[in-house]
Amino acid sequence: MTSRAARAGVTALGAYAPPKVITNSDLEKVLDTSDEWIRTRTGIRKRHVAADNEFTSDLAVRSVEDLVARHGEGALDGVEFVIVATNTPDALFPATAALVQDHFGLKAGAFDLLAACPGWIYALSVAKAYVESGQYRKVLTIGAEALTKVLDWEDRSTAVLFGDGAGASVVEAVPEPYGLKSIVLGVDGGGAHHLHKRATGCCLPNGEPLSDTLYMNGREVFKFAVRVMHTSTVEAVEKAELSNSDISLLVPHQANSRIIEAARELLGLSQERVVVTVDEYGNNSTASIPLALKHALDEGRVEAGDHLLLVSFGAGLTWGASVLTWGGA
Ligand code: COA
Repeated sequence: MTSRAARAGVTALGAYAPPKVITNSDLEKVLDTSDEWIRTRTGIRKRHVAADNEFTSDLAVRSVEDLVARHGEGALDGVEFVIVATNTPDALFPATAALVQDHFGLKAGAFDLLAACPGWIYALSVAKAYVESGQYRKVLTIGAEALTKVLDWEDRSTAVLFGDGAGASVVEAVPEPYGLKSIVLGVDGGGAHHLHKRATGCCLPNGEPLSDTLYMNGREVFKFAVRVMHTSTVEAVEKAELSNSDISLLVPHQANSRIIEAARELLGLSQERVVVTVDEYGNNSTASIPLALKHALDEGRVEAGDHLLLVSFGAGLTWGASVLTWGGA
């Protein structure tokens, strides 16, 4: 009889947001906007912003330092691979993950992963496959973002929404009943024109020029987000052979409190079973779920054995959802 390979789970977590904060009232002074508009349409009150000389790799390193501070010096022992999910790498090459590998002197392979805001869930999925196949035993899985460096600060429809930050996790084998029980990933590239930023290309396949700064069709992304937050979470819960009543906590991508609220209602979860940090951080993309999870842990809202439902959406248009049964370290 062959036994099933051990399931992968998250055994350590850390996160970091830069200390510099821009409040809605700061933005009122430089943009045709208001605290009231931003709060009622998005739930955001402030966002954390990287310093001029602070980039995605710096934020990623800080989140790993937080992980080590929480879990001890040995937390990185035996890390064999580093993944940094990011939309704002320091450079097109080398990978930001290589800079993190070097900083901590890890004997590991490393690459960056670009799947927009659900990038950290995509990275968990890759790490899970590495661990469960036996290819690598311990994977450092980071979501890090310096999005405020690619914003058009004169465009009120996007400048008010985003912030910077990073979250890091260790993925390795965990005993039953813990670990990543399901992963659902998807993309609809037909929606690429709704949210983009230029790298080396000039335009999309339909001829639409790519924007030098972050471009977003907010209304279309909103409708898409509400739809996939629901469909992907339903699928993730089914795949984990659970029901919504088993979910202890929804830890969603923090883009807009109205989107989170719609997802909560459609899933039939009470407000206490949802983590909301968008008021504090704005949307910091791949960092938003690990940062929110850190808050929930610090507030004592997560216990070993809890089924956490993670879900995110973003440019692509992509989505990702996962059921993570917390614990097993
Ligand atoms: N301050 C004041 N007014 C603003 C504004 C701002 N910061 N941004 C836009 N407006 C104005 C618009 O110009 C528009 O004015 P008009 O009616 O005179 O044309 C009005 O507010 C309504 O704009 P609209 O885009 O319809 O607002 P909305 O209710 O859809 O909210 C978003 C806009 C961006 C907050 C919302 O669409 C959203 O959150 N979308 C999803 C974005 C997202 O999650 N992105 C992340 C992907 S990872």
